[in-house]
Order: sequence, then structure tokens, then C-alpha cells
Amino acid sequence: MTDKYAVFGNPIAQSKSPFIHTEFAKQTQQDLSYDAILVSVDQFDSSLTAFFTDGGKGANVTAPFKEQAFAMCDELSEMATLAGAVNTLFNLPNGKIGGDNTDGVGLVNDLEMLFGSLKGKRVLLVGAGGAARGCILPILQHNVAQLVICNRTHEKAQQLQALFSEYGNFFAKPIEELDSPFDLVINSTSAGLSGQLITLPNVIVDKTTDCYDMTYSQQTTAFNQWAQDQHARKTADGLGMLVGQAAKSFSLWRGVTPDTASVMGKLRESLAQKVAD
Ligand code: ATR
Repeated sequence: MTDKYAVFGNPIAQSKSPFIHTEFAKQTQQDLSYDAILVSVDQFDSSLTAFFTDGGKGANVTAPFKEQAFAMCDELSEMATLAGAVNTLFNLPNGKIGGDNTDGVGLVNDLEMLFGSLKGKRVLLVGAGGAARGCILPILQHNVAQLVICNRTHEKAQQLQALFSEYGNFFAKPIEELDSPFDLVINSTSAGLSGQLITLPNVIVDKTTDCYDMTYSQQTTAFNQWAQDQHARKTADGLGMLVGQAAKSFSLWRGVTPDTASVMGKLRESLAQKVAD
């Protein structure tokens, strides 16, 4: 029988997860279906429970439900516990729901594929919301020399420092006190999504700096454009993170690791096609 999976979110029409997981299933010859399910905020818990009661094997959760999904899991991975958010759910044999968070692994795999090993690097994480929180531990686990976090609202960066500083050389710094270049700068803010550009000191990027924007779009993102204007070594958007987190979810559910490169290629083509349209 075909195994059922789905992604829950609001909005959900833009989600690329059904395309990605269907491609993974074809590639690895897995018999599964993967739907996109739109739910209202007050119906998330009941919809998800009904999905699993009806035989759903696993689910992804996207904005704005990752914290709500975290709260309703019976069992959580360490990554999900520290992220305070869940993007991958499992139907456990005893009828319970298990939760994990694969966003950070998706990010770190993409960073190392694009820019080489993270080991020994000085890394700046811009933003202190849910997206930032989910990737702090995976970055620290890759033996960076230091991970600095900055945020428009500095107190939020300080709160994350308190939560994660025991896992590595991790500290918060006010944006205006950033005064030298990093090896890698990661933008985790949602500013670009609403057409805004975050204000950062130019001095944090030079020709040795790689820059990564967790968001993605058809054109160069505003953050990456700014980084290129500072002569960054390389810039990349978050499409690889999206495919990487999906690949990790898929391998947790199915026990096989899909190839991400071919799916990335197809998504890039479809983004370019939209520009041409
Ligand atoms: P997400 O789950 O996507 O991280 P979030 O939890 O709402 O979303 O966090 C959004 C992040 O983007 C925050 O770090 C936010 O900064 P504040 O904590 O100061 O609100 C940041 N952000 C959003 N718009 C921004 C802007 N125009 N300039 C700078 N930072 C911005």
C-alpha cells in the first residue's frame, strides 16, 4: 500500500516540498504519496492528529506551525528539543507522535558543499528568530572557531547566547559593535521576504568572506546583493537548505538517502522559468 506523507502550513500553495519528495520517491523507488495541506491556526493540532490516525506515516511542518508541532510531540530528538521547533514528524508504532528538526542539518550540509568545511571558521549569524535558533547547534557541532550572533533586537540574541553558549564558542554582539570581517556570514532574518534590507556594517564582509541567505528567490536576494557589493568571495541562497532539510526528513522516514543535486537543478530551472514568464 502507498505510504502517506504531507506538509502542513499556512500559506502552503508556494511549498516546494511535494515536488521535492515526489522526486526523491521516484529516484529511490519508494511507494509513497506526499500532499500539501492548508490548515487554519486553530485546527493544526486536530488536522495533524487526524492525518496520523488515518494512517499517515510522516509529516513536515512549515510556517507558522513549527513551535506548535514541537508542543504536541510525545517524543523529541535532541536537535528538536534545542531548536524549540519541529519540522519533521513520525507516526510512532505505539500511536505516539515523534518530532525532529532537520533544518540545521540541511543548512550545514549545504554550507559545506558550497564553501568547504566549517571547521575553524569565524561565523556570523544574523537574526535571532526561529530560523536562527534551529541552526546554532548544528553549526557549533562542526567545530567552528567562533559563532557570533547579532540581531536588530539585541536582547533576543542574548537569550540565545544563554541557551547555547555551553555547546561551543558562541556569543551575542550588538550589530554596531561588529568591526572586522568574518569567514562566513549567514542571514537568517525574514527582512528580505518583505522587501526590506537589514543594515549591517560593511566591514564584516571582505573578499575572503562567504555569504549565505537562508531565503531564496528568482533574482539575487537583497542580502546577497549587498554582500556582492562588498566583494564577498561567494554568495548563495537557501534553496540548497530547503532541499537538504527535505533529504534528511526523507532519509529519517525511509532509511534511504536521496541525491539532492538533480532535484536542485530542476528547482533552479523552474525558478529561472518563472523569471522568463
Ligand atoms: P523566523 O522563524 O523566520 O526566524 P521570526 O522568528 O519572526 O522568523 O524572526 C525573524 C527574524 O528576522 C528576527 O531576528 C527579526 O529581528 P527582530 O528580532 O529584531 O524582530 C529579523 N528581522 C525581520 N525583519 C527585519 C528587518 N527589517 N531588519 C532587521 N531584522 C529583521
